[in-house]
Amino acid sequence: MSEMKNKTLRFMAVGDVVGKNGLSYIQKNLWHIRSRYNVDICIVNGENSAPGNGITKESAETLFVSGADVITTGNHVFRRAEVYTYLDDKTTVLRPANYPPSCPGFGSGVFELCGVRVLMMNLLGNVYMESLEDPFVTAQRILDREKGGYDIAVCDIHAEATSEKLAFAHHFDGRIDIVFGTHTHVQTNDAKILPGGTGYITDLGMTGPEDSVLGVKKEIIIKRFMTKMPSRFEEADGETVFCAALFDYDTVTKKVCGAQTVCLKDR
Ligand SMILES: [Fe+2]
Ligand SMILES: [Fe+2]
Repeated sequence: MSEMKNKTLRFMAVGDVVGKNGLSYIQKNLWHIRSRYNVDICIVNGENSAPGNGITKESAETLFVSGADVITTGNHVFRRAEVYTYLDDKTTVLRPANYPPSCPGFGSGVFELCGVRVLMMNLLGNVYMESLEDPFVTAQRILDREKGGYDIAVCDIHAEATSEKLAFAHHFDGRIDIVFGTHTHVQTNDAKILPGGTGYITDLGMTGPEDSVLGVKKEIIIKRFMTKMPSRFEEADGETVFCAALFDYDTVTKKVCGAQTVCLKDR
């Protein structure tokens, strides 16, 4: 590890940025939020950052210039075909590592940020989602492969079931330093440090229109539940909610020493 001025490094993980609403909020506010909370390293889930869902080169580049250091994704990552070559080129935009190796992009990477080598990985849960390789197996393989080559390991587990995310975090407690969940777009109130030292939250929540169902116009989703008929999703608008979590990493003890949620409302 190279020399550092700060004893503590603060990571901020930002929940799924949804559509125009979420992306323009990030554009306007992320650098201010970074300085207000003294954030050193910022990870943003961008799987819904393109208009109409998915991620594009344009939405990813907007996230980067707005303050993201690394972008993670999830089950919507391959929605836009125009992003595939970008995923192959841009190592700091991750797609879940347990997709087949033939898929575009990378599932993990080691990035030198603020003088530490950060192993960042992205995984997709298997419960109530597309059945991919077991995320426990994939994560273990990445840890084995990268052993000795990183100072801190961070994982975005993009999954539906709270039990799968919590079990994953407990299994890797003390071996992956920070585990945060994404995908549900609803923030959980359980940011904490697990017994083995891993900083954890079940779900970060989303950055997008608050008066909605997970970012989509609520009337459309209500109708879909009541009629069981398919319908075209449209992004909601209105006030934005910004959901994230902060994890503090002590570079001397090499342990996570703080975990807390952030939820800002643009009123
Ligand atoms: Fe999402
Ligand atoms: Fe998702």
